[in-house]
Amino acid sequence: LWLILGFRRRQPGEPPIENGWIPYLGCALQFGANPLEFLRSRQKKFGHIFTCKIAGQYVHFLCDPFSYHSVIRQGRHLDWKKFHFAASVKAFGHESMDPSHGYTTENLHQTFLKTLQGEALPSLIENMMENLQSIMLQSIMLKARCSEWEVDGIFAFCYKVMFESGYLTLFGQELDRDKNVACQQAQKALVLSALENYKEFDKIFPALVAGLPIHVFKSGHNARENLAKSMLHENLSKRTKISDLISLRMQLNDTLSTFNELSKARTHVAILWASQANTLPATFWTLFYLIRCPAAMKAAREEVRNTFESSNQKVDPKDPRLTLTREQLDNMPVLDSIIKEAMRLSSASLNVRVAKEDFLLHLDNKKSYRIRKDDVIALYPQMLHFDPEIYDDPLTYKYDRYLDENRQEKTSFYRGGRKLRYYYMPFGSGVTKCPGRFFAVHEIKQFLALALSYFEIELLDPGVKVPPLDQSRAGLGILQPTYDIDFRYRLKTQ
Ligand code: HEM
Repeated sequence: LWLILGFRRRQPGEPPIENGWIPYLGCALQFGANPLEFLRSRQKKFGHIFTCKIAGQYVHFLCDPFSYHSVIRQGRHLDWKKFHFAASVKAFGHESMDPSHGYTTENLHQTFLKTLQGEALPSLIENMMENLQSIMLQSIMLKARCSEWEVDGIFAFCYKVMFESGYLTLFGQELDRDKNVACQQAQKALVLSALENYKEFDKIFPALVAGLPIHVFKSGHNARENLAKSMLHENLSKRTKISDLISLRMQLNDTLSTFNELSKARTHVAILWASQANTLPATFWTLFYLIRCPAAMKAAREEVRNTFESSNQKVDPKDPRLTLTREQLDNMPVLDSIIKEAMRLSSASLNVRVAKEDFLLHLDNKKSYRIRKDDVIALYPQMLHFDPEIYDDPLTYKYDRYLDENRQEKTSFYRGGRKLRYYYMPFGSGVTKCPGRFFAVHEIKQFLALALSYFEIELLDPGVKVPPLDQSRAGLGILQPTYDIDFRYRLKTQ
């Protein structure tokens, strides 16, 4: 019966297995309903490693943080590309970007490292600061009485400001910012239409990754294609101030690939999604928890004020020219801790690798387990982030969790008296670690530094509860809130 139903029997040396009762799906529904609860209960029953059948795949969940390094160290047996390339094709509809499939010889990983890190950062920072500043102040400065309170949802505000700024920073501008008001409005309308399309497409993203065909979703499909059309090379090449990332990707699409024009454009939609999908909710949670916590607000305001003062900069919304260098951004431990704590509480990424061959996985406890070819090994860092042995009172927001006694970055975290190498992983691990992580943290810091410098900010209801995390996106990164929270802001009187 087991063979007929397609269930696997545990062989000697393999981790304990749970096939679930539904053929093919296995444990998918229980896992999907609440991954953290599911994994914790299985960990209690089976120990630090166990296998679950999920949607036709055998997934070995590794729950011991001291063994995370084993997976990274034994990377030669594991393929990280297969899963990522396949997921990208399913969601964005471009031809395969895996060089072994023959459509391109681009080494995407290299492209990302070259254009999102190191020497590429200063110009990303500079453009982002300029964009953030003008977008944040734009609507409020146009009002007749700009000292009045403006009411908005925190998520809606973060979406508007971060999407537009991030979009312009990566994909450049249609026209020169200095041109007349009509041109600026046309540019704004284009970005807002991209935002609407992005939101519509993002709604169906979890379903696409789960394998549903995009044709089932009419408006999501249209939205993705609209975004792709706007990113055809003939349109992108009319833009100015395009980031190194997009201009290099355009060049490599044109020289190293056999993609048609639409496929090329869809690879840019993939980058737009990667650059926004986590950043937007991360900015929401950072700002939300910050506004709710007076001590965090006080410490953040102080750090921001000191940073601008020490470089002799004046906050003036009529002449908005605040700048922050990479060194200054890297030297803001309070904002760093505030961002980390918000991401610890909201991140639910799944780190996945596929076994290239049968092999023995050696864990930290000196035990080894047999893994079969094509099985998946998964780490779910939320288990780490919510572990009460690592993080005291893990459900509580403590803005200074990542500050040491000298108010500098804290890097020593322990479990059972042993120092952990991995204690914070919203950006993934090893070779698949997010290449945009430095830019991501910089842009959230810039957003906070500007919002705190220009605005007074308050919750409409100071006692508001934390909105629950939308679990339908668990596994994909930073989760969104299930509903928005209202706040109000106005220009500070200097
Ligand atoms: C991949 C997190 C912002 C670009 C990833 C992954 C995670 C992640 C978890 C996948 C790692 C894996 O599969 O193991 C985040 C978070 C962000 C953020 C939490 C914000 C708070 C950004 C930004 C960019 C970016 C701003 C800028 C372009 C990418 C790219 C990949 C990626 C290109 C795919 C890398 C590859 O497949 O080689 N990110 N990310 N991310 N991220 Fe980010």
